[in-house]
Order: sequence, then C-alpha cells, then structure tokens
Amino acid sequence: MRIDILTIFPEMFQGPFTESIIKRAVAKELAEIHLHNIRDFATNRHRNVDDYVYGGSAGMVMMVQPIADCIDKLKSERKYDEIIFLTPDGELLNQRLANRLSLNGNLIFLCGHYKGIDERIREHYITLEISIGDYVLSGGELAAAVLADSIIRLIPGVLSDETSALSDSFQDGLLSPPVYTRPADYKGWKVPEVLLSGNEKEIVHWNYLKSLERTRQRRPGLLGESEDH
Ligand code: 6GU
Repeated sequence: MRIDILTIFPEMFQGPFTESIIKRAVAKELAEIHLHNIRDFATNRHRNVDDYVYGGSAGMVMMVQPIADCIDKLKSERKYDEIIFLTPDGELLNQRLANRLSLNGNLIFLCGHYKGIDERIREHYITLEISIGDYVLSGGELAAAVLADSIIRLIPGVLSDETSALSDSFQDGLLSPPVYTRPADYKGWKVPEVLLSGNEKEIVHWNYLKSLERTRQRRPGLLGESEDH
C-alpha cells in the first residue's frame, strides 16, 4: 500500500510513522508513506497557501491551486483508489471503514487547516471525507496519522500472529477482555484462577464472557442495545 499525505506540516508525522508498527511495516516494504508539503506548490511570492474567505466571515481558507497542482502531479504518476479529506464533518472512522481501506493500493490523504479548504477541491478531487471523532482538532494531521495507523496495521504481514488484528477490540464487534502477565500474585492481587488452569477451552470461554460483559457495561451500543443507561 502507498499513502501520499498532503500537509502544510510534514514534520508533524515524525514520530507516529518512525516508531513501532508503522515503522516496521515501512521497513518490510508492506507500506510506503510519502509526505508532500503543500507549500512547495505555492506559486506566489510569499508561498501563501491560504486566503481570506469570500463573503466576509473571519478566518482563512486553503487555496485551490497549490492543492490541485499537488494532486494532479500524483494522479499523473499512478492511479489512486481514494482521495481522502480529513475533516470533522466527514464520515466517522470505525473498524469497518479501516478494514475496507486496508484493501486498497494507493491512497491520498489531504490534511486541512485554518477554516477549511476551498469547496472546489472537495467537489472535484475528494472521493471520501473522514472524521476521527466528534471533537475538533487543530488540523487534519493527527487525524491522518490515526487513520494511517488504523489501516496499515491491518495489511497482511504487518502484525505477527501473536498480535493479530483478528483479536483486537472491535474486530468481532466486542471489546477486548482483560489481560494479565506474571506474577500470578502481586502483593495479594491475584490473576483469575481459570487463566492459570491450562484448560484452553475454558480460557477461550472465559475471555468471551469477559468481552461480552465489558462491552455490555461500557459500549452497549456495539451489541445493538441502548447506549443510554
Ligand atoms: Cl479529520 N480534522 C479536524 N480538524 N478535527 C477533527 C477531525 C479531523 N476528526 C475529528 N476532529
């Protein structure tokens, strides 16, 4: 998979993409991430990429031309499956959407800033708009990093068998059960007996019941029950 990220703050991705699972996915050549500084496509003297809102309201809007030139260049080089704009008014990211996007080959992520981007970019280039939750971030960069992580870890071969995405919270519509490691007794705080029993069948059943219990208590909506109690 190849992800091209358009941003005015490429440095914000140092860290999320240079550690842990994404770092390994890139090292194994299962994922490629290419950062593009939108400002490099500015043509005016001051390298501005934003301008005042038409109609008089306060705030700045990201201009069409630098973003259009950057996307046009990428599209001339390869075919893209989706051109995604990260925006709080987009479709809410969930595991189902991450699963679907993990099957793609080439993706563009566009990170917005200021008051937003010129609507004509959304009309003529964007194929999918995604939000990572009902709260406001300062820009699309952190959301793009979250989206990239949620997708890349699902690519076959990125996770080892032990950390398989199949056992993740949400993958089967349930939250994960509690987990424990040694010692079996820490100052009197004991690990549940069944987990020490070696009885694989009972352990699987116990984990399932705990998943169900945790989901019912914390996120009843995932079970199709009412969230409001
Ligand atoms: Cl994708 N962008 C911004 N700026 N804020 C957000 C978001 C995205 N998703 C949730 N809040």
